[in-house]
Amino acid sequence: MSEHIINGKQLVSDIRGQIKEQVDVLAAEGFRPGLAVILVGEDPASAVYVRNKAKACEQVGIYSEVHRLPAETSQSELLELVDKLNRSTDIHGILVQLPLPNHISEDAVIDAIAVEKDVDGFHPINVGNLSIGKPSLLPCTPAGVIEIIKRTGKVISGKKAVVIGRSNIVGKPVSMLLLRENATVTICHSRTENMKELCREADILVVAIGKPKFVTREFVKPGAVVIDVGINRLEDGKLAGDVDFDDVVDIAGPITPVPGVVGPMTITMLLQNTVQAASALRK
Ligand code: GUN
Repeated sequence: MSEHIINGKQLVSDIRGQIKEQVDVLAAEGFRPGLAVILVGEDPASAVYVRNKAKACEQVGIYSEVHRLPAETSQSELLELVDKLNRSTDIHGILVQLPLPNHISEDAVIDAIAVEKDVDGFHPINVGNLSIGKPSLLPCTPAGVIEIIKRTGKVISGKKAVVIGRSNIVGKPVSMLLLRENATVTICHSRTENMKELCREADILVVAIGKPKFVTREFVKPGAVVIDVGINRLEDGKLAGDVDFDDVVDIAGPITPVPGVVGPMTITMLLQNTVQAASALRK
């Protein structure tokens, strides 16, 4: 593999090793961080994500429990479970897998999660704390993107970063984090004019638009860091990112293949958040 293609396996195994060491120290003191994951309904992609999250917990020694609820679960039943987990002393992180069935308000459920157990970083108080620069639980994918960029050794401070996508889960929070790292940040979205020209200025390009192979070499400044958050299922069943990897790979600097880097890194940040939440709650 070329030097500049980011090796997700190595990266993730390094960080999970560090997390495991922290968990081992806590466990030796008789304290085990615990994560509860709630899955409502039978979305196959969500089921895979939830399984991977539980597996990752096991790998580093975090206690985890998965609550699988039928698609017909009412909002009040779900809120009752969240409330119970909020009060549990064994559980330090709560994650409700999205999307939820249409009859349940995602906002109502996220608002109900105890702020200090919100390991997804989706609660409005955590979102607000991120934007005013106060310590908070950070959303996992954006936190993972920053960690990936830092571990390439590339400087963020003072550089031009362009983010394609403005979702609450990725685009907006990753932009806030890049700003916090002192990048000059531009956010592009479906109404942006001259997107290619803006992107071609970027030293760091983060793509989270949800369109397979959207970013081609005309978007990329030679040597730029390219982080592809997209994961799209093609008609032939294969997975593709939002970046046309084969077209971009020889012009980009450090670049993430899809799958293999951002996904496993997101789960790694969830583990980190769970340890952080557990340590804070223990005090
Ligand atoms: N569905 C897709 N991404 C996410 C995520 O980061 N957290 C949760 N809870 N659900 C998701």
